[in-house]
Amino acid sequence: MLELPGLIDPHVHLREPGATHKEDFGSGTAAALAGGFTAVLAMPNTDPPLTTQDSLDAAITLASRKAVCDFAIFLGAGEDNIQSATDLAQRVCGMKMYLDQTYGPLRLQQLGSIADHVQRWPKDNPIAAHSEGMSLAAILLIGALYDKHVHICHVSLREEILLIKAAKEKGYRVTCEVTPHHLFLTEDDQPHIGEGRAEVRPRLAAKKDRDALWENLEVIDCFASDHAPHTLDEKDSKNPPPGFPGLETALALLFGAVNDGRLTMDGLIARMYTNPQRIFGIRNQEQTRVEFDPDVRWEVKGADLQSRCKWSPFEGFNLKGKVRRVTLRGRLVFEDGVILAPAGFGVNLV
Ligand code: DOR
Ligand code: ZN
Ligand code: ZN
Repeated sequence: MLELPGLIDPHVHLREPGATHKEDFGSGTAAALAGGFTAVLAMPNTDPPLTTQDSLDAAITLASRKAVCDFAIFLGAGEDNIQSATDLAQRVCGMKMYLDQTYGPLRLQQLGSIADHVQRWPKDNPIAAHSEGMSLAAILLIGALYDKHVHICHVSLREEILLIKAAKEKGYRVTCEVTPHHLFLTEDDQPHIGEGRAEVRPRLAAKKDRDALWENLEVIDCFASDHAPHTLDEKDSKNPPPGFPGLETALALLFGAVNDGRLTMDGLIARMYTNPQRIFGIRNQEQTRVEFDPDVRWEVKGADLQSRCKWSPFEGFNLKGKVRRVTLRGRLVFEDGVILAPAGFGVNLV
């Protein structure tokens, strides 16, 4: 049995409030424990989006009542909260900026709004950016001009990881994350996954992009699932929303890369625990550990997952290594597929 620290997933969508038929703080944090995560950082593109004190309070209250693992929440950057955002900075793990179209209406399109948000945001609190292509170049420059910490979410393309590498070499305060789906899937997998189900932002990319991520592993600070559950009915509809669930497959996929010699165990722990904890200022969880059996083989079956969405883009994958037990702050909270923590055991780590 391997003993791991309680892992931290710095990028999940738990859909509460507003879309609890896809996931809620209970089902999403249950999926986290099953995947070996004892803390998840939740995104603000909910309904309503988390851009005000009231919406943030409501989300923190719901999470405190329902979560079975620990959590922290991102504030959303909107066109309408440029003045008020900084007042809320101490209550969140970062500010999330959507600079491209993805799921939901939360998006910043005015250059002036982006610059004002960045200029005003505290220096010691990260700005997490959904920024693809040209908007990545924009946020890197704006972050550097105002000397702020910019964290680039779900890097997927060769030219993006190379730009981040160059920014780091220049001494920019930039960090980044990559998802398991961009490390293990490409556009060639789309037909097999199914057209609607394979919709995700950023899109699954070319083999050269996936290979560039692996070749530049030292540039990648964190692995993040970008757990983005939607129901199968929605994914198989005429207008499929983008997003993959990922909390319950991330660790075994990345452990596979350790077995293949493409990643070290220390490198996995750095990107799934130490770096997310440092980057997002997550409080230490005392007496917390994950017992992981490296020899168990299992097949991914959406129907078996804790996540309410009950499907996976990795359906049918044969993985090796499974979480057996999770102890969180001294209490056994997960054992062999069973959640043992009561609703509300999870605490806010900010
Ligand atoms: O595929 C995605 N789904 N990408 C995002 O940026 C948002 C997410 C969601 O919330 O469904
Ligand atoms: Zn995103
Ligand atoms: Zn996301």
